Amino acid sequence: MTEWSPELWKKKPALQQPVYEDQADLDRVVRQISQLPPLVTSWEVDKLKAQLAEAAQGKRFLLQGGDCAETFADCNSATIVNKLKILLQMSLILIHATQKKVIRVGRLAGQYAKPRSSDMESRSGHVYPSYRGDMVNAIGFSQGERRPQADLLLRAYERAALTLNFIRSLIDGGFADLHHPEYWNLDFIPLSSDSAAYEKIVTSIAESLRFMETVTETPISNLERVDFFTSHEGLHLSYEEAQTRQVPHKTGWYNLSAHFLWIGNRTRVLDGAHVEYFRGIVNPIGVKVGPDIRQEELLALTDILNPKNEPGRLTVIHRFGLHKVEECLPPLIDAMQKNNKIVTWCCDPMHGNNEVTEDGTKTRNFDKILQELKHAFRIYREMNAYLGGVHFELTGDNVTECLGGARGLSSRDLKRAYKSNVDPRLNYEQSLEMALLIAREMAQK
Ligand code: PEP
Ligand code: CO
Repeated sequence: MTEWSPELWKKKPALQQPVYEDQADLDRVVRQISQLPPLVTSWEVDKLKAQLAEAAQGKRFLLQGGDCAETFADCNSATIVNKLKILLQMSLILIHATQKKVIRVGRLAGQYAKPRSSDMESRSGHVYPSYRGDMVNAIGFSQGERRPQADLLLRAYERAALTLNFIRSLIDGGFADLHHPEYWNLDFIPLSSDSAAYEKIVTSIAESLRFMETVTETPISNLERVDFFTSHEGLHLSYEEAQTRQVPHKTGWYNLSAHFLWIGNRTRVLDGAHVEYFRGIVNPIGVKVGPDIRQEELLALTDILNPKNEPGRLTVIHRFGLHKVEECLPPLIDAMQKNNKIVTWCCDPMHGNNEVTEDGTKTRNFDKILQELKHAFRIYREMNAYLGGVHFELTGDNVTECLGGARGLSSRDLKRAYKSNVDPRLNYEQSLEMALLIAREMAQK
């Protein structure tokens, strides 16, 4: 492989990048960010990589989740608390089910840039650039709001720092006490046909926590510090370049804007700028793969992105959809096994299950999400491989964006609290229920 430096991606075609009117302005902002302190540290990044290496061997389980697109407006106390709360609660259910340590990775503190299917959006005779996330332009539909503004990169860096700062304080301050099912909102349980099974899991979690606390005479939150990591799609390469640093006494370049970054399904082209950028950073990275990936393509990506076959370096996040997972997943597992490639496998059951209601609302169905996951678990079992983790779009708030779940949300309910600007998320109850159902699935094997 050739020498690498953080700006080398510019020599390759870069998909999904905004076009700024003033290049000098963009350069100024990138320079400014590159002089600001990093958001995460290299030792945290290394720690996550070591944990993901264990997930590849089935010794840990990755729970990755958060918004499709974070917004600046949602950088507030309640939204952040609720997101952390649901992820911690889900992780506890998964620990209980798997008897494995769970790696918690939020899709947050930087998930501000989105790939779009079209560069322009037209509405009632007006055509303006598509919304590409709050780090690029604004959601409002006017020429001014949709114009990419370089300063928004700085605003994104700041929002990411504020979010992460609050999360670190919550965790240090014993917020992990929210682990206790006594604090959970379980009103949906009686509405479910599986309520008895859910009750059993929750009671047993509560009992084992109480048992541990009694034996050790220490609150559970003091027993082990909760690790929490951040991640986002490494889409906007100028933003990523600005936060790519060398660290004293270590070799290589770290992207210190997040612990984990992934390449999206639309930008994973072999000879493109994203793959070129990602091959050079030492962070653990992910690559999202959809139904059009071929075996040879994944092998080639693996060769470029993880030439030393280092465990924990590469997570393959597949997002095939319920109807394609059976056809698409086994050949990929097979290719990696035959070529002795070590990857951490992760199932994103969200992005292959998008649907549109009759009135044009983007949604996803709780049951299809769950079914895709169940198929994935079975396929890995049959092929003697490990599903190392799951990737969700979710929020801790009470939104109505996905159909189904114990409350049986219908397409009419979606209007009530549909807040996402991009993809629909599982709400608090749906997320908790999903974790309970995965727990049951994993316990049955
Ligand atoms: C996403 O994760 O929001 C996304 C755009 O996914 P994908 O790259 O898998 O389409
Ligand atoms: Co999405």
